[in-house]
Amino acid sequence: MAEVKKIGVVGLGAMGAGIAQLAVEGGFECVGREVDAARGDAARERIGRFLTRKVEKGQLEQQARDDAMARLTTTTELKDLADCDLVIEAAFEDLAVKQQLFEELEAAVRDDTIIATNTSALSVTQIASVLEKPARAVGMHFFNPAPLMPLVEIVRAERTSDDAFETAYATGERMGKTPIRCSDTPGFVVNRVLIPLLNDCVRVLDEAGVTPEDLDAGMKHGAGWPMGPCALLDLVGLDVHVHASEALYEKLREPRMAPPPRMVRMLQAGKLGRKSGEGFYTY
Ligand code: CAA
Repeated sequence: MAEVKKIGVVGLGAMGAGIAQLAVEGGFECVGREVDAARGDAARERIGRFLTRKVEKGQLEQQARDDAMARLTTTTELKDLADCDLVIEAAFEDLAVKQQLFEELEAAVRDDTIIATNTSALSVTQIASVLEKPARAVGMHFFNPAPLMPLVEIVRAERTSDDAFETAYATGERMGKTPIRCSDTPGFVVNRVLIPLLNDCVRVLDEAGVTPEDLDAGMKHGAGWPMGPCALLDLVGLDVHVHASEALYEKLREPRMAPPPRMVRMLQAGKLGRKSGEGFYTY
């Protein structure tokens, strides 16, 4: 199995920045790529802030924080990922965007670099189909917020090599996560269950005439959820959830997979959750 020392992350939004944070906290060198320098700087600042907070809370030594930050660089050029052993793509959730990035990445990196995608609802096999060496492609699906959620799903696509699969698994562990092995089926493991469940929760809002506050309290105190479904949807983003929900519905044709009308209306009105300042709650 190849030894991973340097990790590239493409896209430093909420997920990508979280993954880059895990990489440097796990002792890896990490280069993060964004489309412009301002976004790269913003991600670096966000990571620095969270690590400082961990120092303040006694969860991390100051020196370890500074060392982790020193292992992080950002760039706007894919060619700066050339010497990475593993690249994790965490760009916009769109098949054409991800396929184009995979093509460009393969041209930029070494022959033996593993290329992973953090896609949550697209097919890893389909994304990897544009590669000359699809055996190097694997899914590494982190959960939001990536630094706090222990799970990473390691997804074996149709042509994934054993080496790429096991290297991704081992790297997930070294990043402090609990990896699970799964196949490239719609929604993999968790989203296959969680997406229809969240859709049901939103349908219940209207069916039972319950408020988001009471539904959230119900699921927290009656079902042991760490946060209520409406708060979770606001955290994930209505746009992200609806997109994943539609992708699953398209593949599985189960009515529960389709986003409920209330959710679609919220999306159309720009009520995306925390990121837009308003969702089920106001921020
Ligand atoms: N790095 C380090 N610290 C971070 C951080 C980061 N990136 N982001 C937040 N934190 C910090 C916060 O600042 C906070 O610290 P302070 O308030 O002391 O500064 C701390 O982490 C934890 O905050 P909370 O008190 O809110 O922590 P909590 O114990 O309530 O747990 C939670 C928060 C882990 C998010 C928990 O509520 C939870 O497990 N929620 C469920 C989340 C979930 O289900 N996610 C999956 C979404 S679905 C998905 O992701 C799939 C997909 O494909 C879309």
